[in-house]
Amino acid sequence: MAYAAPLLGLVLPVLVRGLVEQPRALRLEQRSAPQVTESEQGPEIYGSWANAWDHATQAGAPEVPSSALTTQNKSANMRLPSQGKIRSCFDEYSCHKWRDDRGEPIEAHGAGFLKDPVGGRWYWYGESRKTKSLQSHGINCYSADSLAGPWRREGSVQVASGKEIKEGDADPYPQVMRQNMIKLTGRSGPYVVERPKVLYNAKTKKYVMWFHLDDEHYHYRRVGVATANAPEGPFTFVHAIRPDNIPSLDMSLWVDVDGKAYFVRSCNNTYTGISQLTDDYLDAKKFLSKGPRLEGMALFRLPNGTLYMLTSHQTGWKPNPLMLFRANGPDLSDPQWQDLGNPTRQSDSFNTQPTYVVPYTTKKNETYFVYMADNWIHAGPGQLLDASYVWLPIKFEGGNVFIDRLDAWDMEDPWKDTEDHNRPVFG
Ligand code: GAL
Repeated sequence: MAYAAPLLGLVLPVLVRGLVEQPRALRLEQRSAPQVTESEQGPEIYGSWANAWDHATQAGAPEVPSSALTTQNKSANMRLPSQGKIRSCFDEYSCHKWRDDRGEPIEAHGAGFLKDPVGGRWYWYGESRKTKSLQSHGINCYSADSLAGPWRREGSVQVASGKEIKEGDADPYPQVMRQNMIKLTGRSGPYVVERPKVLYNAKTKKYVMWFHLDDEHYHYRRVGVATANAPEGPFTFVHAIRPDNIPSLDMSLWVDVDGKAYFVRSCNNTYTGISQLTDDYLDAKKFLSKGPRLEGMALFRLPNGTLYMLTSHQTGWKPNPLMLFRANGPDLSDPQWQDLGNPTRQSDSFNTQPTYVVPYTTKKNETYFVYMADNWIHAGPGQLLDASYVWLPIKFEGGNVFIDRLDAWDMEDPWKDTEDHNRPVFG
C-alpha cells in the first residue's frame, strides 16, 4: 500500500484531467501576504447583485411565498432530508424541496454546520431565500438531533430594538442575522450576506459567526463577524473586517483536529488566502499561505492526517468542475496543495458548488465525510429562487477520491444500495 500512494498521486491527476475540463494549471506560490489597496479591485466576476440574479434566473419566474403553499401541495412536495434517505436535488426534474419539521422549505444556502459542543445538537446556518431584493437577505438557522434531520427552524425572537416578535407577526422565526442588524459607520445597506460559518469559542464561550459581507456590486469585500451566547442566537453584529488588509469574497472557517481555527477565503477574486484566527475568533491574526484562485472552499482532514480542500472555480452561480486538493506540505503555512482533479468526474459536478465538508459518525462508530453543496440555479424553474441542496458521501479508494451521484442514500450506511455495499468507509 505504501508504494501505491505516490504512484496514484501521479496517475490520478492525469486520468481525471482527461475526463473533465480543467480551465488552467494550478500552482501554489509564496506565503507572504500581499498588500492590496482599497482601489485595487480584483476581477469583476458578477457585476452587481441584481445582474447576477438576472443572469442566473429566467425572467418572470414566479416567487411563491412559502406561506402560500397549501397543506395539500406541501405534502405532495414534502421531503425532509431525514425521510429515510438523503435525496439530493440534482436537477429540476428529479428535485423535491427539502422541508423542515413544519413542512416549510429549508432556506439555508452557502451553509455552515456546527455540532454544538455544549448541547450536542447540530446547527445548520445558511443564506435565506435568494430573492431578487437584497433587503430580505439574511441568515437562517435550523437545528436537529442528527445531521440527518429532521431540521427545526430556529430564530431569535428578539429584534435589534429589543422588541419581541409575537406569534402571528410576520415571521415567528426571524433570521438570526438580518440586514438591519448590520451597522456600519458611513455606509448603509442592503448588503450581500453569504456563506455563513459558525464556530464555538471555548475560551469566550461565544458562538462566533463569520460571513461574506458585501455591497450589491461585490466591491466592499469584507467579512461580517457576529457573536451569540447560544447557537441559535440572538447574534449581535460585532464588526466588518478585511482580514490581513486583503479584500475578501467567498470564505469559510475550519477547525483542525488540534483545535486551531482557520479562515480561508478568495482574496480579491485573485487567489486563495489562509489565515489563523485570533484566540477569541473575532479576527484573523496571521496570514499563513497563498493558494490558487478558487471559490467555495471546504477543508477536511482524514483520521490518517491527510488534509484536503474541495473547491470550485469562479463562475458565479453556474456549476463548474470541482477541484480536490491534497496538502502535501507540513502545515497550512506551507500546504503544497496538489490538484487531484474533479472527484465527481462530471464537468458540471452534478450542478453543485461546495459549501462545507462535514464528518458523519454512524451508529457503528464509523466516520466518513459528507460533501455538502448548493445547487444554485438548476433545482427548479425559478433558478436562484429554487436553489436547493446536494449532500453526498465522499469515497476513498486506495489513493483515489470519488463523489458519486447517489439518488438516495442512507447516512447510516452510505454505500448500501451501490456496488460498493461491502466497502470499508476508508480503504
Ligand atoms: C459564486 C459564489 C457565491 C456567490 C455567487 C455570486 O461564485 O460562490 O457564494 O457569491 O458567486 O455570483
